[in-house]
Amino acid sequence: MSQDSRDTVVVIDFGGQYSHLIARRIRECEVYSELLPWKTGVDEILARQPKGIVLSGGPASVNDRDAPRCEREVFNLGIPLLGICYGLQLIVDMLGGKVSRPFFQEYGRTAVHFEHPTGLFKGLDAESICWMSHADSAQELPKGFERTAYSEHTKYAAIRDKQRPIFGVQFHPEVAHTIRGKEIIRNFLFDIAHCKPTWKMAPFSKETIAEIRRKVGDERVLCAVSGGVDSTTAAALVNEAVGDQLTCIFVNHGLLRKGEPEQVREILEKMNLRTVYVDASEEFLAKLKGISDPEQKRKIIGEEFAKVFTEVAEKHGKFQWLAQGTLYPDVIESARTGSPASRIKTHHNVAGLPGWIKFKLIEPLKYLYKDEVRKVAATIGIPEAITARHPFPGPGLAVRILGEVTQEKLAVCREASDIVESELKAEGIYDQVWQAFAVVGDDLAVGVLGDERKVGHIVTVRIVESVDGMTADWVRVPSDLLSRISNRITNEVPNVTWVAYAVSSKPPSTIEPC
Ligand code: XMP
Repeated sequence: MSQDSRDTVVVIDFGGQYSHLIARRIRECEVYSELLPWKTGVDEILARQPKGIVLSGGPASVNDRDAPRCEREVFNLGIPLLGICYGLQLIVDMLGGKVSRPFFQEYGRTAVHFEHPTGLFKGLDAESICWMSHADSAQELPKGFERTAYSEHTKYAAIRDKQRPIFGVQFHPEVAHTIRGKEIIRNFLFDIAHCKPTWKMAPFSKETIAEIRRKVGDERVLCAVSGGVDSTTAAALVNEAVGDQLTCIFVNHGLLRKGEPEQVREILEKMNLRTVYVDASEEFLAKLKGISDPEQKRKIIGEEFAKVFTEVAEKHGKFQWLAQGTLYPDVIESARTGSPASRIKTHHNVAGLPGWIKFKLIEPLKYLYKDEVRKVAATIGIPEAITARHPFPGPGLAVRILGEVTQEKLAVCREASDIVESELKAEGIYDQVWQAFAVVGDDLAVGVLGDERKVGHIVTVRIVESVDGMTADWVRVPSDLLSRISNRITNEVPNVTWVAYAVSSKPPSTIEPC
């Protein structure tokens, strides 16, 4: 979508754990938002023609010597400004007030009292539960400011400039635990910043297709597809734009889920994506023989993938472009860490391609979050069989097998995962969870099979809910369902004697076990 035809809100990122969440919440209101690092200069901010600016939370204290700060000019632009948590403290500190660390600090769900049901808090009751997570708080307001909310231990839970459109909240409206958070964000966007809901996926798809067509001209594009929603949507957009100039490569590394190679090929065919299918499972599994270190497994899979991909690409002539399903969080993460490594994860290790292959990159999803990709996919008719699938890691079942990947463990992991997924579908909750799968390692446990004592595998079932994969919690599934899953796994999967359920959240655990 062209910049002129959409309203933008800029979120200045001070490194807070919820910065992406702020940007996503704004986009959920159909207003385009961009996350910019705190060092971004005013000129660059203004280049986005923002209707509003949000200062995010962050781990620093404004009283630290090296505390991150935006340019002072940001407060004089006349553009509506909302500071959240650290953002509020920065407003207070930079405009002449005082911030310090009081004896009582507030964390978690907190009752906040709003002084007036106007402005940010229009339509709210006098009291509501909000999510607090701060050590510092404002103690004295800058000249010209007034308090608009307070809580038991936070004197200034919200503030505003009496003249200028500058607002601050000490709590986090972007977090779901802030019960009326969505309304507060909507009030800022629509009543204060006068944004229009112009961020819609159908026009985005149309304009993206036109832009790809313009860029690529009559050159050729290569795209690695895995059947996941990101790579398939990226390929489909390119296909809409340049049709036969696109060649997709689908590599079966032998670590896919049950029935996946067949299903994916069938879907890609139905979508008229010209795809070269490569069954390289034997080569991958041979390379993984004897390897038990998770990072080494990932590296081998990455290198092997790059090798197969390169060979196939060379066989099919000259390509000038490489299309990838890179998403916005990957782009931001690379900018935050300065390392392109974090971008490899989601695009199937294509970044491991040898340096002598020089492609120009097409990344049509690089401004989108996952939920937006699903919407784009729907606008261009990508089947639900793709969009509704759970995310699946590039290295596949190798990260769900602890220790060496053997044929036997692979079979256990694949069959047991299939049972977990199919039982969730039968229960009608597959679509409500982020990921659901089985894990197998080398630990064995005794069981009784028939009349015989037998030593077999322990399978761990992992079912998690998550918004973006950054944090996750285990799902409290009904015990009857767990019981069915367990019975089916021990009855139907050879050599399994025990089934366990993983009840650890992320953090401190991760979603995948290795
Ligand atoms: P973790 O295990 O880090 O996973 O909590 C977060 C999300 O990322 C996926 N994941 C991967 N995806 N290559 C990928 O393409 C990988 O090596 C990889 N490791 C984890 C994981 O499935 C979850 O959705």
